This record gives sequence, C-alpha cells and structure tokens, in this order.
Amino acid sequence: NKVVLAYSGGLDTSAIIPWLKENYDCEVVAFAADVGQGDEELEGLKEKAIATGASECYIVDLKEEFVKEYIFPTITTGAVYEGEYLLGTSMARPVIAKAQVEIARKVGADALCHGCTGKGNDQVRFEGAFNALAPDLAVIAPWREWDMVSREDLLAYLAERNIKTTASATKIYSRDANAWHISHEGGELEDPWCEPSKQVWTMTVDPEDAPDQAERVNLKFFEGALTHVNGKEVSPYEGLVELNKLAAAHGVGRIDIVENRLVGMKSRGCYETPGGTVLLKAYKALETMVLDKASFKHREQLALEFSHVMYDGRWFTPLSDALIAGAASFAKYVTGEIVVKLYKGSATVTQRQSPNSLYSEDFATFGADDVYDQKHAEGFIRLFSLSSRIAALKKQGE
Ligand code: ARG
Ligand code: SIN
Repeated sequence: NKVVLAYSGGLDTSAIIPWLKENYDCEVVAFAADVGQGDEELEGLKEKAIATGASECYIVDLKEEFVKEYIFPTITTGAVYEGEYLLGTSMARPVIAKAQVEIARKVGADALCHGCTGKGNDQVRFEGAFNALAPDLAVIAPWREWDMVSREDLLAYLAERNIKTTASATKIYSRDANAWHISHEGGELEDPWCEPSKQVWTMTVDPEDAPDQAERVNLKFFEGALTHVNGKEVSPYEGLVELNKLAAAHGVGRIDIVENRLVGMKSRGCYETPGGTVLLKAYKALETMVLDKASFKHREQLALEFSHVMYDGRWFTPLSDALIAGAASFAKYVTGEIVVKLYKGSATVTQRQSPNSLYSEDFATFGADDVYDQKHAEGFIRLFSLSSRIAALKKQGE
C-alpha cells in the first residue's frame, strides 16, 4: 500500500505521516507544491519528511503553471467571492491536487491524503479535484478520522514516537500562502468584533505606515495576458511577483471579511492580495474601454457564477470550462495599457488606453460635436419607454 500525502512540513501533516503508517499499514510518499508561498516554507522540507517517516518526498515547482493556467483565467472571468475575497486559496487547490495525482500515478500509489479539517472548504476542493481526475484512488482525510483535536494532542502523538518537530504548542493563526495571497484565520479573528492586531498581517505594509508619496505602476496587457510591468517584459509569475512587491509597500490589498463557507458555517478571515488587487483593477479598467454594455454585463454575470465555481472547488467541471471559454472570448479584446496609482492602501486607475478602445471623445464630449445628433435621442427614449407609457395611459383612462 502506498499513499501520497499533500505535505507542508507543519505540525498537522507531520503527525499524519506516522498515523498513516500505523493505521493503514502503508508507505507514505510526501508531496509538496511550490505555488510561490516562499522559500522559508520549502527549505529543508525533504529531509524533514524523511525524518518524520516518509519514504520519499517530491517538491514540484508549480509557480508558472499556477499563475498562467489558474490565476489568469480566473482574472479574465472577473471572479471575486461575495464581492471581496480574491480566491487565493481556492485557486491553488486544483493545481496542487492535479500535481498530487500525477505523483500518485508515477509512484504507483493507491491512495491520496490531505491535512484539511472536516470543517472547511479545502477538503471539498482537494477531493473534488481527486474525484474528477482519479476516481480509482482512495482518499484519506485524517482530521475526519482520528480523535486528536488540539496541537497538544499532535505534539504528544509525535513525542510518543520519538519524532522530532520544530512546531510549538501555540500557533495563533491558520495561514495559507501562495504567489497570489496569504490568508489568516483563527486566533482573535474568530471574534468578528475583534479588530485584527498588527501581527495578523505579514505580506503588506500597514497603510498607516505606507509612504506619503504615491507611486504609479504601468501595466500592459495583450489579449487578456499581462505582458509588461513598468515597461519591463514579464512572465505571468514574474509580473505578479513584481506587482506584489510594489503594491505591498503601499499597503494595498488587505481585506477583513466574514464569508460563507461551502459547508454552511460562516468564518472570519483576513486576506492580503497586493499584486492581485492591482491586477484585477487594471484588468477591469481595460475591459471598460473595450467591452460594450451588453458584453460587460454578461462578463459580470459570468464573474459571479465563476466565483462560486472556484470557491466551491468545481474547477474540473464542464461548467468551469464553459465559463472560462466565455471569459477567454472577451479577453481577446483586452489589449492595452493602464496606469494604477498606489497610495496608502488604495489602488486607483488613473490612465487607460487600448487599440481596441470603443471610447470616443468625439461622441462623449460635453462640448460641441457634429457626430451625434441629440434629436435622435427623442425617438429612442419614446420607444425605449413605450411599454411604461402605454401602461400609464391605460391607468389614467380608468
Ligand atoms: N477561507 C479561505 C478559503 O476558503 C481560506 C482558507 C485557508 N485555508 C487554510 N488551509 N488555511 O478559500
Ligand atoms: C481547513 O479547514 O482545513 C482550512 C479552512 C478551510 O478549508 O476553509
């Protein structure tokens, strides 16, 4: 028996290794995805996994794939969950799960394991992907099986087996980081009336401490893809890293929200998505130049629909493919240049231009023009509101 475990090196997944061996009498292959969470989390991970009892450990670099194949398609849909959450954790799950399945095939495993709790969204996202990609593999979710409930329990479990860990009994927040964002849940944040303390935030400068001088960033897009940041050609991942750096320094991209989890409960979380916040604003600003009213409305509806597809872990479904294809069809027009001003936590679009622009100063001007005959509006309005007029006339006649 062989199990591939999505391993992070944290206390939970460290305890899972011996637990799997004891309870499933299996070999455990550790798998870690590099989705841009930072080198600290990946350093020494292989040695640690082996020391904890894994037979092998694979670390797979998914950074460019994650940004190009998951983040950018999601940006083109405009999806934002419940109007605020930029879906950072949600977007990483399918790319991680897919790579985990590939490792399972490679090593001939018969089961997949993850360290998500039975109370959250992530279990649904991982297993949703597993079911779509590898229905023949068994899934093991230790948090839904064992009766350990606290960090003390996990530490004691490892100590009884003489397995060393650097984890401590107190870890205040549950965090999840990748190239797009970091999430913070738990600790004092469980009280929605409690303002997050300074130590919650890790990726961005406090807007109150941000520079007094605003900074402008120039973004160029070609058919929906980011190609340049401040004139420098970038890969999708490089572009995001650069925008993170610029926006984080100005405290851009913090949110503090209560959200509806898929499993029914509400949870409170703080999120930092500096580069992503700038990218979404710039992308949308370019769309406003190139999409007509009906197209833009449809794109907005698509965004709402896709935000739930993504949040609910339904990436590998026909609906997801259809929505992405619809968004890609609009994205063909999204070529041009945007300037965003960063200042003390805000990101404001100040300049926009596009070769596909439908914006016409000749038509829009409040000054004199000779392209638009204002008299034409009269007949238009008369017919546009004709049904109201007929109804009102009827009422008057009663
Ligand atoms: N509530 C967010 C979401 O569902 C963040 C989840 C964070 N996950 C974690 N394992 N810490 O997408
Ligand atoms: C977890 O429960 O494992 C993290 C939070 C979530 O999945 O929503």
